[in-house]
Amino acid sequence: MIICHCQTISDYDIHAAIDWMRAADPDTLITPGKVYRALGKAAECGGCVPLFLETMRANPNLPITQDIPMHLCTLRGATQEKPNERRQKSY
Ligand code: FES
Repeated sequence: MIICHCQTISDYDIHAAIDWMRAADPDTLITPGKVYRALGKAAECGGCVPLFLETMRANPNLPITQDIPMHLCTLRGATQEKPNERRQKSY
């Protein structure tokens, strides 16, 4: 199935690129931009991004298999605990 019509990228191409990148480096962070680059293409309109991401998430090789370091596990909570960003109440 064609995922990106601008660049004619299929779901097979995306899965092949992810599998290749994961085999080359088990610790790499795979992003849509890296998938485009691995396929020798670049996004144009961006209209395919939601389906592109959904296709990427369906690949079992997408997540990093290595455990996330403990000090990074709490990062999301630490960055979201800023109730006051020094903005005025009326802002
Ligand atoms: S449909 Fe993928 S960049 Fe336009």
